[in-house]
Amino acid sequence: MSQEAEASLEIIQSRGGPAEIEVAFVLGTGLGNMADTVENPVVIPYADLPGFPKLTVSGHDANLVVGRLEDTNVAFMQGRSHYYERGDSRAMATPLETLALMGVHSLILTASAGSVNSSFYPGAMMLVTDHINFNGLNPLIGVASDGGFVSLTGAYDPRLAKRLKRAVLRAGVTLHEGVYMWFAGPSFETPAEIKMARMLGADAVGMSIVPEVILARRLGLRTTAIAMLTNFGAGFQHGDPSHAQTRETAAQGAIALKRLLRAFLRTKEEAWVVSSQ
Ligand code: HPA
Repeated sequence: MSQEAEASLEIIQSRGGPAEIEVAFVLGTGLGNMADTVENPVVIPYADLPGFPKLTVSGHDANLVVGRLEDTNVAFMQGRSHYYERGDSRAMATPLETLALMGVHSLILTASAGSVNSSFYPGAMMLVTDHINFNGLNPLIGVASDGGFVSLTGAYDPRLAKRLKRAVLRAGVTLHEGVYMWFAGPSFETPAEIKMARMLGADAVGMSIVPEVILARRLGLRTTAIAMLTNFGAGFQHGDPSHAQTRETAAQGAIALKRLLRAFLRTKEEAWVVSSQ
């Protein structure tokens, strides 16, 4: 682990957060207020944590919130750094290393995305089951020798997916499933690119998730991702995305996502009790 991650860990512990964190969430555009439900929250601005990103995009707070939720020690990252902010696909490396040092065993990434599946309407959520990385970028490029050969088979953890699907029933929300294709951004895709994404088998397109999943897999974190579908992709079903629309629709969808994430934490406990009988 990097010295920055070790230093961030010390700062978090010195501010009185739980010694160990079980589940961590990364909250995307318009979804930051999900952390409001944390009990006894310890809120630490990213600016106080070495190696944590300086955010440049509106719709993202920039705090790490740690505390208890549904009898679980949790961490919420309110906002992320994207590749397009500085051309750095390792922008989330130190925060993810810090979460790993805190003992996190399950990482849930959330992000807004454009739908390229005609059955997946804006406002709905999609569990990411796999991704397509077609832009030549990889956060492990240049990373020490053999350490970069990380397997991405099962990168979107099947056990976490199963638990989330059980939580869907409790929460009474809809969760589609599909493939997420990463575009570097920050410009939105062209209609021709959206057509290509559909032809290649994508169900949603977006500008995050993928580098974080790759980094998290290298750290051995079990990871899953939920895309909040905020619009149809450019030129598809009259889609013409904008940042304002993304923020607004994500904020509306945050209510369902919040219900789902709380149900997810409760479902874990019940599953644990059942399996130990
Ligand atoms: N494309 C890429 N990223 C996105 C989109 C989109 O249409 N909507 C929300 N994030």
